[in-house]
Amino acid sequence: MVPNEASNQLVGRKSEVELLRALVREVSSGRGRCVLVEGEPGIGKSTVMSAGMAEAASLGCLLVWGSADELSQRLPLRVMCGCLDIDRWSVDPYRGEIAAMLLGERPAGLLGSGDPVHAATEMVVALVERWCAGSPMVLVVDDLQWADEASLLAWRQLAEMTEQMPLLLVGAYRPVPKRAPVVDLGEAVRSHKGVIVALEPLANSDVHEMVADLVGRSPGPALRRMAGRAAGNPMYLRELVDVLLREEAVVVQAGEADLATAAPSLPASLSAAVSRRLGFLSRDVTQILQATALLGVECPVAHVAAVLGQTERDLAPQFDEAVAARVVTRAGDRLRFRHPLIRLALYEAMPTALRAGLHRHAAQALAEAGAPLADVAEQLTATPAAMDGWVLDWLAGHASALVNRAPQIAVELLQRAVALAPPNGPWWDTLSATPAVVPWWDTLSATLAVVLFRLGRTAEAETSARAVLYRTADRGRKAHMRWILAYSLLRSGRAAEAAAELRQALDDPELPETWHARLLALAAMMQAGTAGDVDAAEAAARRALAIGEAAGDRFAIGCALQALSVVSGVRRDEPARLACIDRALEVLDDDAEYTDLRLLHLANRLYSLTVLDRFAEAEVTLATVRTLAERMGDARLASLHHPAATHYFLVGRWDDALVELDAIAQVPEDQAYTGMVHGLAALVAIRRDDRATAERHLTAAADQPANTPTSRANSMPLLTARSVSAERAGRTADALAVLVVLLDPGYAHTERHLLLPDLVRLAVALDDVDTARVAAETCAADAARVPTPGRQAAADRCRGMLSGDPGPVLDAAGHYRRVGRRPELGQALEDAAVLLARRGDIEAARAAFGEALEVYDTLGVARDIRRAAARLRPYGIMRGSRAARPRGRHGWDALTPTERLVADLVADGRSNPDIAAHLLLSRRTVQAHVSH
Ligand SMILES: Nc1ncnc2c1ncn2[C@@H]1O[C@H](COP(=O)(O)OP(=O)(O)OP(=O)(O)O)[C@@H](O)[C@H]1O
Ligand SMILES: [Mg+2]
Repeated sequence: MVPNEASNQLVGRKSEVELLRALVREVSSGRGRCVLVEGEPGIGKSTVMSAGMAEAASLGCLLVWGSADELSQRLPLRVMCGCLDIDRWSVDPYRGEIAAMLLGERPAGLLGSGDPVHAATEMVVALVERWCAGSPMVLVVDDLQWADEASLLAWRQLAEMTEQMPLLLVGAYRPVPKRAPVVDLGEAVRSHKGVIVALEPLANSDVHEMVADLVGRSPGPALRRMAGRAAGNPMYLRELVDVLLREEAVVVQAGEADLATAAPSLPASLSAAVSRRLGFLSRDVTQILQATALLGVECPVAHVAAVLGQTERDLAPQFDEAVAARVVTRAGDRLRFRHPLIRLALYEAMPTALRAGLHRHAAQALAEAGAPLADVAEQLTATPAAMDGWVLDWLAGHASALVNRAPQIAVELLQRAVALAPPNGPWWDTLSATPAVVPWWDTLSATLAVVLFRLGRTAEAETSARAVLYRTADRGRKAHMRWILAYSLLRSGRAAEAAAELRQALDDPELPETWHARLLALAAMMQAGTAGDVDAAEAAARRALAIGEAAGDRFAIGCALQALSVVSGVRRDEPARLACIDRALEVLDDDAEYTDLRLLHLANRLYSLTVLDRFAEAEVTLATVRTLAERMGDARLASLHHPAATHYFLVGRWDDALVELDAIAQVPEDQAYTGMVHGLAALVAIRRDDRATAERHLTAAADQPANTPTSRANSMPLLTARSVSAERAGRTADALAVLVVLLDPGYAHTERHLLLPDLVRLAVALDDVDTARVAAETCAADAARVPTPGRQAAADRCRGMLSGDPGPVLDAAGHYRRVGRRPELGQALEDAAVLLARRGDIEAARAAFGEALEVYDTLGVARDIRRAAARLRPYGIMRGSRAARPRGRHGWDALTPTERLVADLVADGRSNPDIAAHLLLSRRTVQAHVSH
């Protein structure tokens, strides 16, 4: 008997397939979901998925399907690019842009930030989002156990979005061996109302049905027993029956198919069964299949031919035979193994040494045939082959592109190359012993230092940079390595050593001018940032600026101005700081090479504008900076959330502030900001009467030190939160005591004016006139020293409350109203209302009170409303019929203004990216609001 070729019929698995079909119908009517299918090799994951998705296209869904491959695990986004058809020749410019990003066609900045893989991952997610806006989509990624980490991250992010868009996201994986990022997918699916389908072995009745289907007759008792050996695994069963049929061990007896002999020899495992199937193939075909197996589960026919050194046409008969033997299938110009296990059996049958040699040969053959970089790299890292002349040549020629496309692979190959000359040996002797390395050693090891620095592997970057420094004669390269060394030292908290390195570099009389300016600017940046001698930092920065200008080096100028802006920041001279930043932005223009530096300036600009109460401009900068940071894949996107959170907090968009704070919580916390993050979150919670959350944040920041200028500067929200919390608990004296620390000269360089009016209010309430006066004087002095409108308004409020004159308090309210600082507007109006009422100007008091209530209402602060009402009641001023209601906890009323706006736009039928553009929010912010 021969195997029944038509036996592709699905046996059992009814409920699983029906579940997937139902989800396809759901998505076609607009409701997305995420699904994971898990099970051992050959159990039927791919088969069940394809049966489940069969109707997708006819129901109007866009169906895309990709499979990960064992070889490509370290190639970032490999699977996603494959399934979404992203390559540099894409007709769709957006996909072309993603491919270009991955190919490193964008210069890497000297600040070592900006990760193209991260940026491309974001873009992949955005691409799917965009497609989903056009039509429902089914996206299947098979064999996730082999997927690269960036693709897994993209899958997870998409899973989180399935509740909000018409995307049916499907994935399949083998649960063993366990891989952490794959396990995380399960978590994501569970927490986003997804489904996990675990495929168990087939039931006995299904096994018999399948055997009957394969042999074309009902199986007899011996054959049934034998089939039991497959333990319900359809792949094994299929291979087992296939072997039996090919070896003619099955005969027809009395209308049933049964075994000819009682105990035929049988393969002991699935892989043995597969290997035995391959034993039937001719030598030529086996050779072709081995070459194909080297290249992965799927590859272009042309690549196989290139590896074998022949033309496709010569090999046509062999390809046909392999397809006929049901080992591979052919779709257009690509070959694909019918099953990954078949590839594995072929691959593993080759001796390790032979495999290593073949991979090395394949790499060269593919490179010469013009195959993509990633395919060549895959071959070079498949087994640790020797570094020979060709490999080093190739590496030197493609290192910078490889660093972008596959940084991990780049590091591995570069490390292998560089290790040919160990750092502590007599290096020249070792190098000369491997002559192929000599011309490349410098370049390759410098590239290694750069990529390690960029990957944030600071300690290794430091070692590599030192090795190059020690050996290279090239002055420019030396300077570049010093830059990396000093920056790495700074990042690992060793500022003094970093400064020493820079001094040593600057001592070199032959230092190229450009590098002179850059290193000097870096030294100034460090000096200013670590709060050393500000005047000295300024002098160094000015010198760097002059040299940079003379050398015409925009990067050095940008760095020097960054240092100067930090100096002005430390001096709290905001207008001067903003001027430096704007000048730097003008110099840097939008040259891609300086994007990371520009980003740094833009983030500082955002902060500066916020301090200056220029919120509208801050909003525009925020949008620019966000787009840029997302495109850059900037690891420091986190540092952007701080000024953004402050901005939103000050203008009273507290939900947006909370989204930013959440984003900060998702990255390893920067100690300096802990007080600020928990302080802001606690403040919002306190004002909204959510005591449990407030307590949680206050406890988390309990022992936050405030002993450096930075930590003091960032402790303002925390101090406010502690004070407001004590005041709400009726402990007014404690509330005052918390704030008194602000009068300490150590706080002179903070934004303490934000809190001083509260200090005055509390002191006046407790009849502590001295403290109230000192606080008011301090506020006035701060405003005189750095006359920003915000400081002046604060000083006015203090003065008014101290003297009991509502005039200046109303002036301050006028300022807050104009610039949009709503929380302070509410408070100033309430205070002014009390002062007006005390003077007997009831009408004006009523008006101020009414406006305060409106403001409080939009902020959702019921307690403030009650407090204000209680303060005004003694003067006969009541909340009246127009007075604000506390925010409802459910339904439309429970929404904040931003949420309402988002809800309106969603109701308008706009897709999320549109909404984000409209509101100038980031896509993630919109997701957070929609899912609330
Ligand atoms: N329910 C079924 N009925 C009939 N044949 C099946 C069934 N499930 C799987 N098969 C067959 O078994 C083989 C293995 O199935 P499949 O490729 O779907 O397994 P898998 O779980 O995806 O394996 P892997 O983990 O290796 O990807 C296929 O040849 C398929 O045709
Ligand atoms: Mg499969």
